[in-house]
Amino acid sequence: MTTHTVCRVEELPVGQHRPFTAGDTKLIVYHLEDGFYATQASCTHIFAPLAKGKIVANCQIQCPFHRARFDIRTGKVIEWANWPPGLVNVLNAVRGEDSLVRALWAGRPLIWQIYPQDDGAHHAKLEAFLDWLDAPASLRQFHRTWNGIADTAGARSPSTPELNAWDACARAARERLFTQDDLATQLLGFVGKKR
Ligand code: FES
Repeated sequence: MTTHTVCRVEELPVGQHRPFTAGDTKLIVYHLEDGFYATQASCTHIFAPLAKGKIVANCQIQCPFHRARFDIRTGKVIEWANWPPGLVNVLNAVRGEDSLVRALWAGRPLIWQIYPQDDGAHHAKLEAFLDWLDAPASLRQFHRTWNGIADTAGARSPSTPELNAWDACARAARERLFTQDDLATQLLGFVGKKR
């Protein structure tokens, strides 16, 4: 492990935070009542500089752009971005797998258009995804219609309660992603089981 010295303890009083560079990495160091912590320098929403954010509730950094709040000690999202202003529900319509991953990390309601396969294998794949998502019935039905698997007769826009349920579902899925190990750790675990 490489060690970097960024400042003296007395140069960062309790309750303050400042940006530093350690090697090639830009980061923010925070001095909370229970010690020093560091996070990446940019917000995970659309990369506003967290150095311009403010510490709230003694342990959270609030982004200066759209007020997402993160627990400084764990990195956990406390409140996601309030953007666009006043718009509670955004529906992300995405196609293909890369876009799906980005939409999942956004933690907002999403509709996935899966690439169709000649043998219809995408039907099972879509259902497996909806199971993982723990999608409510209305979201499942919307996906099936959107992907041409269900009859489009009777198709309709989601109601506000349905959109709220889709929003809760997307946020919960994002939280589950935060709890999983990184890919390298998962691969090492997989290899370890095969030995
Ligand atoms: S860039 Fe941080 S909340 Fe939007």
